[in-house]
Amino acid sequence: MRRQLAQVETTGTSREFESQVLAVDHTMGDAILLTVSAPTTVVQRLNSGQFFNVSCRFPGSFDPLLRRPYSVYRAHQQPSSLTFLVRPFGRGSAWLAGRTPGERLEILGPLGNSFVIPPRAQRLLMLAGGVGVAPLVMLSDVAVARGLDVVFVMGAADAAGLLPASELRGPVEYVVATDDGSRGHHGLATEIVGDYVHWADQIYACGPEPMYRTLRTVADTHRINKKPGVQISVERGMACGFGACLGCVVETRRGMIASCVDGPVFDFDEVVF
Ligand SMILES: Cc1cc2nc3c(=O)[nH]c(=O)nc-3n(C[C@H](O)[C@H](O)[C@H](O)COP(=O)(O)OP(=O)(O)OC[C@H]3O[C@@H](n4cnc5c(N)ncnc54)[C@H](O)[C@@H]3O)c2cc1C
Ligand code: FES
Repeated sequence: MRRQLAQVETTGTSREFESQVLAVDHTMGDAILLTVSAPTTVVQRLNSGQFFNVSCRFPGSFDPLLRRPYSVYRAHQQPSSLTFLVRPFGRGSAWLAGRTPGERLEILGPLGNSFVIPPRAQRLLMLAGGVGVAPLVMLSDVAVARGLDVVFVMGAADAAGLLPASELRGPVEYVVATDDGSRGHHGLATEIVGDYVHWADQIYACGPEPMYRTLRTVADTHRINKKPGVQISVERGMACGFGACLGCVVETRRGMIASCVDGPVFDFDEVVF
């Protein structure tokens, strides 16, 4: 019997809802695109960079107890739905990546803050490392719809781990790097970024923390007076997702900040790595 979930209000406009898996598509490496139904009120108020906490419990059990956080890859109006990019990593994500159409999921969100496109920004540079590509795809869609110029840089271990170019909508310049040189630049994606820093009005990044450490060097070398600004999504392990456990705190120049509530998007220059 299906369990009816209370429509729990949490922070802001987030809520808990039951969802149905609509589609599963293979995309890059072992990651899948998981499209699930979502209430129209949730989809309409969503902004790029926000995330949802998805229950990954095995049937008839409370294990794993904690929900797993996932950025929105794309939101759709018809039918009202969300797509997540899910890479099997540990128990919870492997369970989620194994879902099939018709199955039900329990989801909480949207959570967290979002990327901001400054009013005068025309040229946006995006830097994605691995599955960190997810929130930047939604941001790129928004930017293209507004007529902005987007250069999208992605890095992965090998060609199979790269997002297919066909996944990016509109006139986006897509530049890739692979650790093994099997496609694009042979090396780190951050090594490409320096070529575009002077072009960009704003930079956005999402990826693992080592990527941010090399981005720091590139940003310090190529920017003038910390321009262009850099917004990053910090993907910390999260237990509650709404500011109660402090398991996700990020050290910033303003002190320790819970990334699930006041992040995951931060001003790069504020974060202490
Ligand atoms: C904002 C955000 C967005 C993300 N977006 C994506 C995405 O789009 N695609 C993607 O593939 N991955 C994404 N991730 C990563 C994804 O959430 C992890 O891969 C997933 O949670 C791993 O769960 P697991 O059960 O497979 O791994 P495990 O290693 O088995 O479990 C990790 C989980 O345990 C919990 N946990 C363990 N220790 C602690 C602790 N000390 N404090 C708090 N919690 C703890 C957390 O819930 C953590 O997520 C995102 C992470 C964040 C924070
Ligand atoms: S995950 Fe609990 S405070 Fe952020």
